[in-house]
Amino acid sequence: MNNIWSENVQGINTLYLSRKLRFDDMFFEQYEKLFGIDKNADIKILEIGCGPGALSEALRRWYKDAQITAIDRDSNFISFAKENISGIDFREGDAVKLPFGDCSFDITISNTVQEHIEPTAFWGEQLRVLKPGGVCLCLSARKGLQCNAPCLETTEAEKEFWESIPKSENEREKYGVCQYPMSEAELPASMEKNGFYDVTTGYAIIDLTPDAPKYSPQMAEMMIEAMRQCALEAVESVHSYYAEKAISAINAKYDERLNLYRKGVKQWDTSVSVTMVIRGVKR
Ligand SMILES: C[S@@+](CC[C@H](N)C(=O)[O-])C[C@H]1O[C@@H](n2cnc3c(N)ncnc32)[C@H](O)[C@@H]1O
Repeated sequence: MNNIWSENVQGINTLYLSRKLRFDDMFFEQYEKLFGIDKNADIKILEIGCGPGALSEALRRWYKDAQITAIDRDSNFISFAKENISGIDFREGDAVKLPFGDCSFDITISNTVQEHIEPTAFWGEQLRVLKPGGVCLCLSARKGLQCNAPCLETTEAEKEFWESIPKSENEREKYGVCQYPMSEAELPASMEKNGFYDVTTGYAIIDLTPDAPKYSPQMAEMMIEAMRQCALEAVESVHSYYAEKAISAINAKYDERLNLYRKGVKQWDTSVSVTMVIRGVKR
């Protein structure tokens, strides 16, 4: 039983809702080009560090004939995924010691996982479980853009809450977060150094702007709700006397954001995420 990530780093809603948006079908064209996987192939895909499972859920829609296995060492994420997403073999397990035989998969894929795992083990285990000719897809979040609506600025109650939390210097180290960051140049070089061939790179740009007319009301409201849940989970994961006030303030400002959206009063707040896709082949 390991709940380190879901209880201390990012909660289920934060990951599931943000990824559900980033891996929406309307962005598939971008991923499809970067992945270079035959849509109709009968293949075995392994997702590593799947969290609550939103990427695997999208892969199941996009690659209908694929058999998908997904692994994460956080028990809460795997329980959530098993309860809410069907058609995928979700398992608890460690990426540095994958519980699969050599040459078992056609594709390995991960999203925002590489930076948390020692590179030799991260690439080496994927190389081992991939079949010859198999493809490793590493998705890595890069610097994006964030512009808040005025009604979503940090409130006094939130400031008071965050100021009441003692700062822990080594939080990242304690939970094993982002111990192996790599630049856009280092990532493909690391993949090659660790035995992959035909390495390529590319970028998917996902802009989430609730007021943009290209988004349906359902999608726009999902964007606002995902932001709300992320803010709420951040507060709820820490004990403080000021939490209740901060939670009310967060709910009030996101209710206001939803009202403005529904009334057609545009705010043009936006979040643009840049996902780098590094693709390599096992000889
Ligand atoms: C930033 S989260 C990304 C989760 C998921 N890929 C997503 O995009 O929603 C990093 C994930 O890697 C998992 N993780 C970190 N180290 C791991 C390891 N050694 N083995 C398995 N999972 C690991 C964490 O539990 C967490 O779910």
